[in-house]
Amino acid sequence: MNTTHAAATSYDGRTFTFDPDDWTGRPGELVRVDPASGPLVGQVRDARPGRRIGTGLVLGMVVDDGTVRLGHSEPFASAPMRPLTTAELTSFQEQRGAQLVVGSWRSGDVETPLALRAQGFNRHTFLCGQSGSGKTYALGVILEQLIMHTELPIVVLDPNGDYVHLGTPRPDAPPAESAAIRAADIVVRHGRADGEEAIKVAFVHMPRHVQAAVLELDPVRDREEYNQWLHLQLTSGVGTMDDVTTALRNGPPAPRALGQRIENLGVAEWDIWPWNLDHQEPPPHRVTVLDVSTFRTAQEPLVTALDVVERLWANREDRVPTLVVIDEAHNLCPAAPTTPLQTILTDRLIQIAAEGRKYGIWLLLSTQRPSKVHPQVTSQCDNLVLMRMNSPADVEELGRLFGFVPPSMLEVSPTFAQGELLVAGVFTPVPIEGRVGPRITVEGGSDVRVPMPPAPDGH
Ligand SMILES: Nc1ncnc2c1ncn2[C@@H]1O[C@H](COP(=O)(O)OP(=O)(O)O)[C@@H](O)[C@H]1O
Ligand SMILES: [Mg+2]
Repeated sequence: MNTTHAAATSYDGRTFTFDPDDWTGRPGELVRVDPASGPLVGQVRDARPGRRIGTGLVLGMVVDDGTVRLGHSEPFASAPMRPLTTAELTSFQEQRGAQLVVGSWRSGDVETPLALRAQGFNRHTFLCGQSGSGKTYALGVILEQLIMHTELPIVVLDPNGDYVHLGTPRPDAPPAESAAIRAADIVVRHGRADGEEAIKVAFVHMPRHVQAAVLELDPVRDREEYNQWLHLQLTSGVGTMDDVTTALRNGPPAPRALGQRIENLGVAEWDIWPWNLDHQEPPPHRVTVLDVSTFRTAQEPLVTALDVVERLWANREDRVPTLVVIDEAHNLCPAAPTTPLQTILTDRLIQIAAEGRKYGIWLLLSTQRPSKVHPQVTSQCDNLVLMRMNSPADVEELGRLFGFVPPSMLEVSPTFAQGELLVAGVFTPVPIEGRVGPRITVEGGSDVRVPMPPAPDGH
């Protein structure tokens, strides 16, 4: 018995049903249905054997030249249904403006490139998967595509130094793509580096509330000190924390407590403060990777992130589109922030999640568990990339947060192998299950491999 030819029935022209025993495919496959009223393309939503009915969604009608016009159809009964061919599947994605190829899409027996819509990145995107599911790798593939095929400015907050080679093509990368990566204006900065390569933030240029958070000052609990801080005049000659301490010592009236606080916290020893008094902001680049893995304190990555988002927010009226990429996002906008720095950063990210879209500030967040990131950020994401997730509770939560993903497609994520993913939302024509493609650039921070002798044919 052929198990991928079923008879579909639709009473409303929007959804259809079929006998799941006639269908061995997975949810998410695209099908062509041929009722008397004219051919249409649909997506199987639920085809689990043992269910009484399989269900699907009508995507649109196939018009004369083979393109699909989105919309619903006439009701129909017992119309033949079959998987789309490779050509039909590829054409469907192209028609929907999906050009960023991030991997492959298996639908039925055919495999086609899995492409995302570049224009769908004008939303916030959530990437979720358990540790080792391949999030960092997949994020790298997505970034490479955005770098090569768009002009979108990107800032990457890189907690583990995974993206430090984003500008370096792999030796086996296709020549055209190598050239495109080499041509891109990509700068990488590190914590505790020298010169141009260093991440530096001038304390005196940071907004007052950020300065206060660096000093762990709470406006209510530390009422007096916070107020002294507010009224303290920091001159532009004050570039380093040592200068701040000196200013405090000499300034009338001497706010001794503040000076002691700075010394006790060890803030003056952080590597992020520039030594030169006239530290200038580096000019903007197309892609900036901020490798915060080399800082010695947990606070400096937070200060780095605050510097990025505060600046973007302050200049939001300029409406310069920017994608802010945060790997391990639970560190920067946790569900329950604990320190003053985490709190003000999370607050700002919540604000950007809610209002950033209209200014062109878009977030791309990656994390292991949906519940670890602040729900007011997660709930604003219109794109989902889901990789392997073991915990049924987490999958359930994702279902609640991302109502646009068919539950039957979410449910299979515990069976994903490394590199397998589900994409759903504005950046994809339909929810798609697929496999991420090869990286073009060199991975940073990946496992060290056992050295092997070269193969005899020289490859
Ligand atoms: N699609 C893939 N193809 C090849 N190697 C991969 C793929 N995805 C992940 N890996 C490798 O598996 C390891 C873990 O992947 P990673 O992306 O760091 O996982 P995560 O960020 O989810 O913890 C890395 O060494 C990475 O190179
Ligand atoms: Mg990772």
